[in-house]
Amino acid sequence: MQDKGVLYRIAGPVVVAKGIKARMYDVVRVGNEKLMGEVIQIDGDKTIIQVYEDTSGIKPGEPVTNTGEPLKVELGPGMLGSIYDGIQRPLPVLIKKMGSFITRGVDEPGLDQNRKWKFRATAKKGDSVSGGSILGEVEENPGIIHRIMVPPNQKGKIAELSSGDFKVTDIIGKLDNGFELRLKQHWPVRLERPVAQKMKPEAPLITGQRVFDALFPLAKGGVAAIPGPFGAGKTVSQQQLAKWSDADIIVYVGCGERGNEMTEVLTEFPELTDPRSGKPLMNRTVLIANTSNMPVAAREASIYTGVTIAEYYRDMGYSVALMADSTSRWAEAMREISSRLEEMPGEEGYPAYLSTRLAQFYERAGRVLPLGTKHEGSVSIIGAVSPPGGDFSEPVTQGTLRVTKCFWALDAKLAQRRHFPSINWLTSYSLYLGTLSDWFSANVAPDWTSHVSEIMSILQEEEKLLEIVQLVGSDALPERQQILLQVARMIREILLQQNAFHEIDTFSELKKSYLIMKTILHFSKAANESLDRGARVQSILDVKSKDKLAEVKFVKEYEKFISNVVKDMDAEFGKL
Ligand SMILES: Nc1ncnc2c1ncn2[C@@H]1O[C@H](COP(=O)(O)OP(=O)(O)OP(=O)(O)O)[C@@H](O)[C@H]1O
Ligand SMILES: [Mg+2]
Repeated sequence: MQDKGVLYRIAGPVVVAKGIKARMYDVVRVGNEKLMGEVIQIDGDKTIIQVYEDTSGIKPGEPVTNTGEPLKVELGPGMLGSIYDGIQRPLPVLIKKMGSFITRGVDEPGLDQNRKWKFRATAKKGDSVSGGSILGEVEENPGIIHRIMVPPNQKGKIAELSSGDFKVTDIIGKLDNGFELRLKQHWPVRLERPVAQKMKPEAPLITGQRVFDALFPLAKGGVAAIPGPFGAGKTVSQQQLAKWSDADIIVYVGCGERGNEMTEVLTEFPELTDPRSGKPLMNRTVLIANTSNMPVAAREASIYTGVTIAEYYRDMGYSVALMADSTSRWAEAMREISSRLEEMPGEEGYPAYLSTRLAQFYERAGRVLPLGTKHEGSVSIIGAVSPPGGDFSEPVTQGTLRVTKCFWALDAKLAQRRHFPSINWLTSYSLYLGTLSDWFSANVAPDWTSHVSEIMSILQEEEKLLEIVQLVGSDALPERQQILLQVARMIREILLQQNAFHEIDTFSELKKSYLIMKTILHFSKAANESLDRGARVQSILDVKSKDKLAEVKFVKEYEKFISNVVKDMDAEFGKL
């Protein structure tokens, strides 16, 4: 359905064409340089287009061509380890082609078209297949199997299929309806890939970060938001999750406000080692990068490109975690385009459909039974939000809050006090706590959940007491409450604080988090019992082994260490 028209009006990233018969979200080529754009509004004979590239110098009268196709990504082996822009153009190739300056109209497919992959067919001639059925495998990176699937909308009997060395564009087989099978497939980014069934999450995404795993756990297939003011630790948290969470595949979408922030990601990520395999982290990562100097429309698209890639790996039966840092920059791109369209602005100038778009994006997360296979897969989404001035009542934070079930609120005050990760334990929450409690009981310890509740209630009690302390000082508090303050402090300093940059503390096994909780509560119990027996509160607060416990964070052989601490603690309390 190729047809041609002309440019009529240009307003930054938004242009108007006349004379083409396009549908919503068709991809069009704009101007003499054939810049890529997408139809976002149709108004009589006028077609309104957002352009993914810089439009300066484009003039009315230049040609516009409709491709008749929606914005799609190319899905197949070779995505892992790639660094893409918002519309899946490989950045390193772009940079090579264009020098360090991104010239316009460069087309570059998402997958390397020349590389050959060793394909091993697992299905055979005569098999009945449908969307999602697995045809065979390619080892995409050492140890990472890429399952080649029938595209979601196809069905039939395999007429031919062969193993061998293929490029992504080569035909590897055919269905009896004539459909040509390849290592790659395409999918429109704005459309969720279909699944056989969405299921309730039941296992946690283990992050190795104690405050998340213990107090505010995220489920595999769940959604979390990390809102936080400037410099509070959003990026460090997202990167910790990318490094340590037990997802099979990571998709990291960086929407940076500053170019140098993205540069850090681009230079740092490829250097990182996957702590689980010892191989480069990029082996299981897809990076999508936009900076503020890239066109806003590409930033708007990047989120969809990212989540579509995530869904594709999910369909192979993998657990995928998608990080978006920061969704506020994405929302701002939407706002800019909306204002060019002269749409009626909603709150703070954001379009009225902001919250719908946020919801649609986060709804693409989930634990699923993919089409055509029995391997379950999941996409977990963790979005950072950067509210201006740290004001959580602004529209992006509020819109996000409505749809995410984990809210990891970063707090500037904690960051100033160097309490990292600066997650505010009073305002954060996880609605997965109940759902996951069975998993933790079965897989870590039966009393995991009761420990967590006790820890939370001590922290809440501390908050109330601190108000009183401010008025009258801690010495005036009853003895039992002085002990509680001490226990709360241990919780904050030993359990919650975690140094992302310490080689051991950076990751905490669930067992370690559990033993820390258990030992702190053991101290609490022993302290209160000593009081009952008439011990002086000061001598309880002076117990040395409680200080020793703090060192466990930096100890690899933590089980032995903790059992010694507990022995010492019991001995000390025995003498009081
Ligand atoms: N878990 C952590 N452990 C140790 N230090 C941390 C941790 N989290 C954050 N920091 C410190 O805080 C600094 C700022 O963190 P980060 O860059 O993640 O903030 P941000 O919220 O992404 O900021 P911006 O709004 O500029 O994007 C880091 O450079 C680091 O020094
Ligand atoms: Mg940041």
